[in-house]
Amino acid sequence: FKIADVVASSGSMIVVSNRLPFVLEKNKEGNLCRKASAGGLVTAVAPVVVNCKGLWVGWPGIHLEDPNQPIPESDPNDITPTAGLKSDKVVSVRIDPQIFDSYYNGCCNATFWPLFHSMPDRATFNGEHWRAYITANKEFANCTLTALRKLKNTENAGDVPLIWIHDYHLMLAANWIRQAAEDENISCKLGFFLHIPFPPWDIFRLFPWSDEILQGMLGCDMIGFHITDYCLNFVDCCQRNLGCRVDRKNLLVEHGGRTVRVRPLPIGIPFERFVELAEKAPKVLSTTQKIILGVDRLDYTKGLVNRLLAFEKLLEKHPEHKENVSLLQIAVPSRTDVKEYQELKEEMDQLVGRINGRFTTPNWSPIRYIYGCVSQNDLAAFYRDSAVGLVTPLRDGMNLVAKEFVACQINTPPGVLIVSPFAGAGETMHEALICNPYEIDGAAEAIHRALTMPDDERILRMNYLRRREKINDVNYWTRSFLAAMGSLITQEDHDEIG
Ligand code: ADP
Ligand code: F6P
Repeated sequence: FKIADVVASSGSMIVVSNRLPFVLEKNKEGNLCRKASAGGLVTAVAPVVVNCKGLWVGWPGIHLEDPNQPIPESDPNDITPTAGLKSDKVVSVRIDPQIFDSYYNGCCNATFWPLFHSMPDRATFNGEHWRAYITANKEFANCTLTALRKLKNTENAGDVPLIWIHDYHLMLAANWIRQAAEDENISCKLGFFLHIPFPPWDIFRLFPWSDEILQGMLGCDMIGFHITDYCLNFVDCCQRNLGCRVDRKNLLVEHGGRTVRVRPLPIGIPFERFVELAEKAPKVLSTTQKIILGVDRLDYTKGLVNRLLAFEKLLEKHPEHKENVSLLQIAVPSRTDVKEYQELKEEMDQLVGRINGRFTTPNWSPIRYIYGCVSQNDLAAFYRDSAVGLVTPLRDGMNLVAKEFVACQINTPPGVLIVSPFAGAGETMHEALICNPYEIDGAAEAIHRALTMPDDERILRMNYLRRREKINDVNYWTRSFLAAMGSLITQEDHDEIG
């Protein structure tokens, strides 16, 4: 049965995230149009919201001068998961540009992002950014409350709406929504999912206002993380920061007279959609060389520098791969206003230049580097036709690229997945080659092993990987989230109730 059956019958869903699943841009004629956003959150959540005709509260990626400017519908040729999201289902949050800069570039991406990825040396701590984070979270909470009040007056008024808040941008919003809804006697259920790691207490407590973060999140009925380690870190922080009573075995936290459930809910991908894309996508790689593929936002957590160094080491230690193998790295520009990201762009450009300068021959370049977004069709073709998928984050909440690569392995013999143990995906994708990206020699050996792996071993590993991702797909993730919220009602249940 489909997600629509599950959610539509359990009331109305409001998804709240920093970014809408598209950004608005002005085209040549000066008209606003949609461009799909990249990132794990959008890939996972957009199909769910579209299917259940839910509302999406978020920032449109542009500071609109006219607050009443209508959101355009999607392009009829759009095949991204976002295409079906009608503009009347979108609540666009408007925040003063200066506040937004301090909230998004400052507190979210220069503080929480590095800190939660256990890279405190990269984090900055700034009171003004924190105050902007509070203001922005209040604005998101207010927009969500407006949507909630409207729902109360519709035909679904009898149902209890589910508010599903996403990610580290909005860790304060739940508590304000809960309090206001209680004051106005509006029932709702509040759930939160963190798409990035939750760090250990010793790192988390470096944030000067860490108590407020926990109090904000504990406004929810249920909080989901990708893996058990992140759940335990969170429970630990609640106990040590706030002195909450906790149950580690059952992952429960007592706070403000309520019990909040914490659950490991590893995110999945729309597996069948990627299989279909891989079946239909025309070939784009016309090469006899084996391709090692990397696909990432250009982000320092993704281990891109280590990956290039490991590839260089491979060519040094195993020269038989020269002219026979190329690394295709696709890096989508991300958070380009933040200094660390600008510096990484420079470092990558230099490193690609240096390695290519060192090894290129008249007929071959070792690295092909695309700095940009590629279409879903091309992405599926790259995944399908690569011999090795190289996923080497230094730290990553889950990593959907690893799962998308596996879904697109429809050829025989299939490619080999290499994954870092520091990604959530490394915890669950046991049949991948696991490689520590900090140790460059070992990473080079893992690539060599993948390139020379016998066909029967490739087939065996990939069969297991594909089976798991097919079962634990994004629909399964959503159902698990709703079940953990106590909101899972199947179509059959609904028929019985009706
Ligand atoms: P994150 O959420 O940190 O960006 P994930 O690996 O979980 O990392 O998700 C990244 C998502 O963005 C995937 O769905 C992937 O297909 C998409 N993506 C990443 N890079 C590109 C790119 N260059 N072009 C198109 N899509 C991309
Ligand atoms: O998955 C982590 C995440 O931060 C998402 O919340 C976000 O949509 C994605 O990465 C891309 O980041 P940004 O929205 O900052 O471009």
